[in-house]
Amino acid sequence: MRVPLIAGNWKMNKTPKEALELVNALKPLVQNAAAEVVVCPTFVALSDVLKAAEGSNIKVGAQNMYHQDSGAYTGEISPVFLKAMNVEFVILGHSERRQYFLESNEEINKKVASALKHGLKPILCVGETLEEREKGITFDVIGEQVKKCLADLQQYNLEDVVVAYEPVWAIGTGRTATKEDANEVIGFIRQQLKEVLGEKLSVNTRILYGGSVKSSNIRELMEMPEIDGALVGGASLDAAEFAKIAIY
Ligand code: 13P
Repeated sequence: MRVPLIAGNWKMNKTPKEALELVNALKPLVQNAAAEVVVCPTFVALSDVLKAAEGSNIKVGAQNMYHQDSGAYTGEISPVFLKAMNVEFVILGHSERRQYFLESNEEINKKVASALKHGLKPILCVGETLEEREKGITFDVIGEQVKKCLADLQQYNLEDVVVAYEPVWAIGTGRTATKEDANEVIGFIRQQLKEVLGEKLSVNTRILYGGSVKSSNIRELMEMPEIDGALVGGASLDAAEFAKIAIY
């Protein structure tokens, strides 16, 4: 049984004070959510949000991390620090990190391994660009991302892996993939998982959809058999709207 997961990626938004206000507003609104609810604030707001979320059903994730435990990596954040703070999830390989910070599948693979090594639950993002979709190579791109980012992880507890399918052309554009398209690609990702993680994990791994998810389209997405939840950007910045999505 795959428990639905609704995660909010706050991206580079909300000061620590604003983040605290947002999580506090969210707490009563999502307390009866059947889905697992996760919020991912910026690093500097993690501490306040973690404290505020204590004792509630809201779980907390980071938006990125470096793959090394410590050392001369100015400006980077270690999985050891996240774990020490009781952060539970970490988004890895988001398309914005691939696009603006040139993260490769190989680097993301190291991050996934490091997250699992330290007991963090990775939310691995994959997705094709508009150009790739128009060229008809969506499945090649996604297949390669899944296989490379999840390579050589057999030694870890892979039950904690979550995958998010976020077509780049649907992020922040108001243009959602149709529920059929999202379901088809997520079904394809599940087939790929069978090859890299094995049959059992492919059936049990949660695969989310992300890209212009709103309270008005969440229900139809969640009705699709392969879609196990959502990774929400813009609409997660408003407590009432995100709560409506979380309790869809
Ligand atoms: P939007 O919901 O703003 O399209 O962003 C999606 C996303 O990138 C979540 O990680």
